[in-house]
Amino acid sequence: MQKQNGLIFAADLKERRKTLNLTRKISDYIDAVKVNYPLVLSTGAEIISDLSDITDVIADFKLADVPHINSRISKIAFNKGASAVICHAFTGEESLKSCTKTASEFDGEVYSVVNMSHPGSEDVMDSSLPKLCEISKKADIDGVIAPGNQPDKIEMIKNKIDTKILSPGIGAQGGKGKKAISAGADYIIVGRSIYDSTDPVKSAKKIRDNIKMYYSNE
Ligand code: XMP
Repeated sequence: MQKQNGLIFAADLKERRKTLNLTRKISDYIDAVKVNYPLVLSTGAEIISDLSDITDVIADFKLADVPHINSRISKIAFNKGASAVICHAFTGEESLKSCTKTASEFDGEVYSVVNMSHPGSEDVMDSSLPKLCEISKKADIDGVIAPGNQPDKIEMIKNKIDTKILSPGIGAQGGKGKKAISAGADYIIVGRSIYDSTDPVKSAKKIRDNIKMYYSNE
């Protein structure tokens, strides 16, 4: 994924045509599109190939299975044209390594989830944060997912692991793009604030411009 905009579009829609049209229209403002179960279960895995003709695709299946299944799912995603997969770190080093090993066969990337943005995630994930970063390091991941609505956590994670940080939780979940970037995020992930907006293209451009301005002022 080439960093030009710092923005990743979370395409959590259910309609194929709408997703492709919108992704095409905002492609100048994003560096990748992230697909999750709502889209893939509604439209089929071919959507990964279709989107990969427009931009890089991150397959966010939050893989959390035994190693050979994690590996099989990753392989399908990469074969369809994904550039990266997202995996949970809590299943341990072997499960995560099964993803990074598979990714290396495709020149793909793996991002591990070390913390989450929603209320209640702190119940289990906060106390495990150091361990989840350690597991991610050992598995040689390409980056981590860290909550964009909690800049203090981004800073904490940045201090524990020297890697790319992708941050969801911006907009609808209360996070601010500039704050996340200034805390150490390399990319922000935004869904509803784009696709639910009355003018999604304008919103995507505005979100991108906001963080772009910040980069140039750094
Ligand atoms: P919006 O902008 O609609 O985007 O809130 C939600 C998208 O981001 C994903 N998401 C997360 N993924 N850890 C993750 O791995 C998180 O803490 C997190 N918070 C949101 C969510 O799956 C959706 O695609």
